[in-house]
Formats: sequence, structure tokens, C-alpha cells
Amino acid sequence: MTTSQSEVTNDRQALPALVVRGVRKTFEAELAPVRALRGVDLTVERGSFIALMGPSGCGKSTLLNLVAGLEEVDEGTISVAGESMSDGTEDTHALIRRKHIGIVFQFFNLLEGMSVLENVALPAIIAGKNRKSAESRARDLLDLLGIADKASEMPGVLSGGQRQRLAIARALANEPTLLLADEPTGALDSVGGQEVIELLSRLHTQGQTIILVTHDANVAKAADTVLRMRDGRILSDGDALTNDTLTTIGSL
Ligand SMILES: Nc1ncnc2c1ncn2[C@@H]1O[C@H](COP(=O)(O)OP(=O)(O)OP(=O)(O)O)[C@@H](O)[C@H]1O
Ligand SMILES: [Mg+2]
Repeated sequence: MTTSQSEVTNDRQALPALVVRGVRKTFEAELAPVRALRGVDLTVERGSFIALMGPSGCGKSTLLNLVAGLEEVDEGTISVAGESMSDGTEDTHALIRRKHIGIVFQFFNLLEGMSVLENVALPAIIAGKNRKSAESRARDLLDLLGIADKASEMPGVLSGGQRQRLAIARALANEPTLLLADEPTGALDSVGGQEVIELLSRLHTQGQTIILVTHDANVAKAADTVLRMRDGRILSDGDALTNDTLTTIGSL
């Protein structure tokens, strides 16, 4: 690597994990368009653990989907580790997603016909790693997440908490800059939920950058910053949610 290349790499590593500026997204619906995001600004520094809270329909999942490049922004910019998730094509967004993003959903989205190990190895294989090194990394992840003994089982035999840990292992397969978790404890009982939260906290201590969407204030406590959304916007930290504020925001 030449000096200038390594300088570029170092510069990139110094950039925030995520920068969102002026993002708007409207969905066409039968009755009237739904303005799901109405101007979102957000900077997530590397190593931070952010919990995103807010009422149903305020735009939390839409924001995560845009950050992951699963949907396209209407207006504004998103950059993940300095790479644009708002300019460019769906193909370039898919490449950036594979390189920088791991996603965990409420209902796990596991591949039920594949073994636990194969579920975790697959993203790395899709990203171009050979099977042997992908499986070796998958074994390390399962070990880290405490389900190494289940490697050759099918996902169907796992408990809810174990299934979500498997989904998290899979999300970490390509060493993502940013781990996005959309209500990862929403479908779990309190024991399973606790397992998942402890795991996310541990990953955070090891330096993983995390954005966690949750409705549960106890779950949000694991994060170092709690951001609140209302009606397609992020309210600034510490905003008093008086009824007046809510009425004003709701009418915008
Ligand atoms: N594909 C879509 N087509 C039409 N409307 C959509 C679509 N996706 C989201 N919406 C609408 O956009 C708004 C924001 O939805 P979003 O799923 O982001 O909310 P949320 O904060 O994640 O809610 P919840 O807490 O219930 O998961 C909602 O009014 C929703 O109905
Ligand atoms: Mg949602």
C-alpha cells in the first residue's frame, strides 16, 4: 500500500460510522402520501450505542431501512463510514451494505433450511470469502455468542433468545461498521430479551457501533444515548416532550 492509499484508509476510519443529513421519505398510499421521514439529521460516532425510541409509525424502521440501503431516500444524504448510501445505484448500495452494515430484525429472518453454522457463514460467502474461512469465522462468532454447541443443528430447535443470538452472529459475519437492530427483543420473553441485551452490551464494550430500535425503556438503558423520534423527526436530546411540543410537532 502506498502512503497516500494508507492515508485515505486512515481518513476513512476516522469518519463517523454514520452521517444522516436532511433525509426525507414519503410513501405513496391509497388515501394520502405518508411522510414517514420529514428531515432527519443524525451523526453516529464509531463505538457508540444508540437506542432509538418513539411511537409506532414515527419512522424508526424507515430510517434503519434507508441507512441499510434497503430503501432509497427521496431527499438528503446518508453516508456510512464515508460511503454514500444516498447517491449511486441499488447495486452500489448493496455493496456498501455488505461491507459496512449488519441488520437484525424482530422476527429473526433466519434461513430455516440451513444449519446454524451455514446461516452465519452465508453472508461472508456471498461477500466473496471462501467457504472454509467463512465457516471458521462463523464458528468463532457462534462461540462468542454462546451457541457454538448448536452449530450443526437447524435453527428450528433453538429458543427465541438463541435464535436472536444466531441472527446477531449472522449480522456480524462481515465485521460491519454499524450493527442495526430493529426491535430485536420485541418477539422474545424477558429471559430471551435479557440474553440479547447482555450480548449487545458486550459487543458494544468490544467497540461495536450499534443502533437499536426499541419500545422498551429497560432495553434502551443498555445504550449510551437514547434518541427519541416523533412524526418523522429525531427530537434533540433532552427535548421536553410537553403536550405543547407534541401538538406543535404533530402539526408540522
Ligand atoms: N412500504 C411502505 N408503504 C407505505 N407506507 C409505509 C411503508 N413503510 C412504512 N410506511 C409508513 O410510514 C410510517 C413510518 O413507518 P415505520 O415502519 O418507519 O414506523 P416505526 O416507527 O418503525 O413503527 P413501529 O414502531 O410500529 O415499528 C408509517 O405510517 C407506515 O405506515
Ligand atoms: Mg418499526
